[in-house]
This record gives sequence, C-alpha cells and structure tokens, in this order.
Amino acid sequence: MATERHRSDTDPGDTDPAGRDLDAGAEPHPDEGGGAERFVPRSRSLRTLGAAAESCHGCELYRNATQTVFGSGPRTARVLLLGEQPGDQEDRLGEPFVGPAGHLLDRALAEAGLPERDVYRTNAVKHFRWRPPPGGGRRRIHQSPTQGQITACRPWLLAEVEAVRPAVIVALGASAGKSLFGPSFRVGDARGSVRTWSAEPEAASAAGIAVMTTIHPSAVLRADDREAAFDGFVADLRRAAEVLK
Ligand code: URA
Ligand code: SF4
Repeated sequence: MATERHRSDTDPGDTDPAGRDLDAGAEPHPDEGGGAERFVPRSRSLRTLGAAAESCHGCELYRNATQTVFGSGPRTARVLLLGEQPGDQEDRLGEPFVGPAGHLLDRALAEAGLPERDVYRTNAVKHFRWRPPPGGGRRRIHQSPTQGQITACRPWLLAEVEAVRPAVIVALGASAGKSLFGPSFRVGDARGSVRTWSAEPEAASAAGIAVMTTIHPSAVLRADDREAAFDGFVADLRRAAEVLK
C-alpha cells in the first residue's frame, strides 16, 4: 500500500481506535505515494515550484486537505523560517502562518528586528494533517505529520532552500528539526544553538547553511507563562538575526 511505504518502524501509524485510516479521505489518486521528488520541476523559480506543488500526490496528505500551502516570501530573503505544516486557517487561505501561531510569529519577528522583506516562510509538510474530534463534530484537530510524511515532502523544502539560498534557516519546533536533521532530532538538545546543515550531511562543513533551532510559536501560545515563553522565543530569533550581521 502506498501509504505504508513512508512509515518508519517506530511510527505508531495513522489509524483511529477503530482502525480506520485517518489520512484516507477521498479516493487515492492513481499516482499517489513515493514522495514528492517526481513532482518537483527542475526550475528554481518559486512561482514555478509553487504551481507544481499544487498537484503533488507524493503522500496521502493532499486527500484530506483543501489545498497545498507552499512557502511565501521574497527569493532574496536571508532568513528561511521553517514550521511544521499548515494549520486550519492556512489550509483554508493557502498561505503559511496566517492563523494564531502566525500572528504571534509576526510580533516576535518584529521584536527581534527581522524585517518582513528578509523572511521566507515555509513548512516541513505542505498539506494540513488533521482528524475529526473523537465524539464527532466539524472541528479539525491538528495532528503532527509522521516522519514518513515529513520525508515524503522534503524534496519541496530542498527546492525552496536552493531557490532562496538563505543565510540562516530557523527551525521552529520538532517537525522542522526532523525534516532537516532526521528522526532522532530533539528540540530540547538543539534549542538556541546554531549548527551547520546541508542536504547532504557529508557536505555540511563545506557548503552548509546556518540553522538556528527554537520552539514552535504554537508552543508559546500553549505555555503556562506565555510572556516568559514569548521572551525566550524572541531571544532565539535575535540569535538568528545575529548570524546576518
Ligand atoms: N503552524 C505551522 O507550523 N505552520 C503554519 O504555516 C501555521 C501554523
Ligand atoms: Fe506532496 Fe507534501 Fe502534500 Fe504529501 S504533504 S502530498 S508530499 S505536498
């Protein structure tokens, strides 16, 4: 089954308690699965890439989502902000970081002195993964993508990085970190540090890009002490701004 191909052995799977596959909404497209690579054009024009991503079936997540949410921002941006996946609002509007987490992020970027024109925003996974509430209802409950889905979507991210060639990537939370560094990545170990990354790990020291890891803005929204969490988040973003100097 195409959906099984991307799952790691440790992945708990994508079924609800009754065993139904939660990512299988509509009928699968005949070319579903296998990862995004064969959908990614050679072009490194963001416009061309974004248009091609609209019809990606590299994993099953397009089935339950409204649309692909590709990255957004100028190709001259020096900072690439990497989130997890579009949320409910982003799925409806087709733009990354336009919901509550995005508003918090905007405030934090302004406070850290990172101007809009220097920021490209994208996500590790370009389709919204959600499930219905256990008791039924219309609300769409966010579900983190699996490692298999993160890996399937990675070719889009690599193309975006090649197109923008940022001076620094800010990894917002665990899924972003796993997309860059693999399944063993933990935010707690990496937070606030600046490391060098390359799509091919052997080349990291030669041709790497600086990656600063921090928490996800929605973790700030969930924190008991929001103000302290916000200040910590801004301090991390300032560290990314330092790399630009
Ligand atoms: N959270 C993310 O990680 N990305 C978005 O685009 C919105 C919310
Ligand atoms: Fe393609 Fe990524 Fe969407 Fe999966 S999540 S269908 S790989 S764009």
